[in-house]
Amino acid sequence: MVYRNRHPDPPSDDKRWLIINATMRRHGYQADALIETLHTVQSVFGYLDKPTIEFVADSLSLPKSQAYGVATFYHFFSMKPMGAHSCVVCTGTACYIKGSDAIMKSITNAFDVTDGETTADGQLSLLTARCLGACGLAPAVVVDGQVLAHMTPETTVDALENVTQAAPAEEQAEERVSDGA
Ligand code: FES
Repeated sequence: MVYRNRHPDPPSDDKRWLIINATMRRHGYQADALIETLHTVQSVFGYLDKPTIEFVADSLSLPKSQAYGVATFYHFFSMKPMGAHSCVVCTGTACYIKGSDAIMKSITNAFDVTDGETTADGQLSLLTARCLGACGLAPAVVVDGQVLAHMTPETTVDALENVTQAAPAEEQAEERVSDGA
C-alpha cells in the first residue's frame, strides 16, 4: 500500500517551519487554526509572504484566497520584512492631543522613514496604533515592545538612536567568535 504524506512540504528546510507545523498539528490541522498559525509565522519569521500563506492554506486545506483575506485584513500581520527594531507611535486621541503628530514628524526627519515603512538600512520599522490602552501615559510610544511614557520628539528620537546604534546581542556574540575571543 502506498502512503501519501497528507501535508505539503514547507517552502524551505528552515528549522523554524517545525514550530509552525507544531502549531497546526496541535490544532489537528483544522481550518480554525489559521489565525494562530499566521501569528506563529509572524512571530518566527517577522512577516508573512506569498509562499508562507499558501503553505499554511494548503496545510489546513483552506482556499488560498481565505488565507490571503485573513493575512491582509488584520493590521498586526505584516506582509513586508520588518526592520531589526520597531517603533509604534500611538496616534489615538489622548496621544494625538499631547503631541504624537510632532513625534511622528521628528522620527521621519531623523530616520527618513514614514508610517508603515522600514528604513533603507533595515534598522527601524515605523508603525502607528490607534490606542495602546495606556492613555494615562500619553503620548506613548512602543520601542521594541517596551512602552515608553510621556514622550517628546526629542526623547523619542534619543530612544530610537539608542536601540538602532546598539549592536544586537547575537551580532556581538558573532563578533566575539570571529575574533577568537
Ligand atoms: S490614545 Fe494613546 S494610549 Fe490611548
